[in-house]
Amino acid sequence: MKALVLSGGSGTRLRPITHTSAKQLVPVANKPVLFYGLEAIADAGITEVGIVVGDTAAEIREAVGDGSRFGLDVTYLPQDRPAGLAHAVLIAREFLGADDFVMYLGDNFVVGGITPLVESFRSERPDAQVLLTKVSDPAQFGVAELDAEGRLAGLEEKPRAPKSDLALVGVYLFTPAVHRAVRAIAPSRRGELEITDAIQWLIDEGHDVRSTTVSGYWKDTGNVTDMLEVNRSVLETVESLRAGSVDADSELIGRVRVEAGARVVRSRIVGPVVVGAGAVVENAYVGPFTSLAPGCRIVDSEIEYSIVLRDASVTGVRRVEASLIGRDVEVTPAPRSPSAHRFVLGDHSKVQISS
Ligand code: DAU
Repeated sequence: MKALVLSGGSGTRLRPITHTSAKQLVPVANKPVLFYGLEAIADAGITEVGIVVGDTAAEIREAVGDGSRFGLDVTYLPQDRPAGLAHAVLIAREFLGADDFVMYLGDNFVVGGITPLVESFRSERPDAQVLLTKVSDPAQFGVAELDAEGRLAGLEEKPRAPKSDLALVGVYLFTPAVHRAVRAIAPSRRGELEITDAIQWLIDEGHDVRSTTVSGYWKDTGNVTDMLEVNRSVLETVESLRAGSVDADSELIGRVRVEAGARVVRSRIVGPVVVGAGAVVENAYVGPFTSLAPGCRIVDSEIEYSIVLRDASVTGVRRVEASLIGRDVEVTPAPRSPSAHRFVLGDHSKVQISS
């Protein structure tokens, strides 16, 4: 069995985290979301992985390399434009050969991995198997309709009037039957070859298509509340580490990872917290469920339940909560006089002022 991981796309849809870089590299507990998918694939005993890449190919290649550190053998499959998930299957035809495969969308996160799913597919081997999950905003997803017996009856891509709240999760299992389906369908309203249409084609042609419903799922819809929540759930599982320095005046409570080259000075950190490589926490309080990415600085400040991306700094600010702070951002107090808030905010930023 092989894996096909989709990490193409133009990288412009994700807001407000970044407009420029690959959305599959958005960090969850300081690790790119794509890496969790690759680890889940390796855990399921799959080694041959094709990664579909687009405009952000260089970034993805730099992050993943040849895959050996995940125990994987990675082949890159360039896609000239994001023409749809079924189009990605089309261009991967030669790589996939006559093998069954799991198709994994690189911006999806499935709590608990995919091993049980892959095992049941291997033993029962339906023509295709999809994962579903209940969501509050089904119109943003592929939506499934089940019949009275709970069998998959129909699929619709981003419907205006969703027939259920069951969304397709970005993990699909296929036998080579899907290759005929992706050749049979036509582009959708939005001009993409939709994998939902290919699966609908399999259902209509009488193939055995099954569904499993899961909980614990996240995708980068640009929803900060969800991102903080998935970051929280991953931090629940981190192990303590003291690879950086912690001075005698600091107190670390619970599971706190201090990565290599990080410095904690006269501070109190209540885990679970990750302090990335080379980050500095000085005269500060860092509360539970906070991820500080490499190179960021939290000085004379208090922060809790937040994500701070690479090289950002928070200095002299009390108190930051439930926040997502982007790369190279600086948060500081305004000068005392005149008494005013001062901002330099990028497009799609969101600010909540407490005074
Ligand atoms: O995340 C689950 C949803 O993923 C499903 O519910 C939908 O049915 C499915 O169509 C898909 O929806 P999105 O429109 O949100 O997919 P997105 O464009 O974000 O692409 C998903 C991943 O696949 C992302 O990592 C980029 C990559 N991709 C996407 C396209 C369209 C490619 O590599 N090539 C492509 O042509």
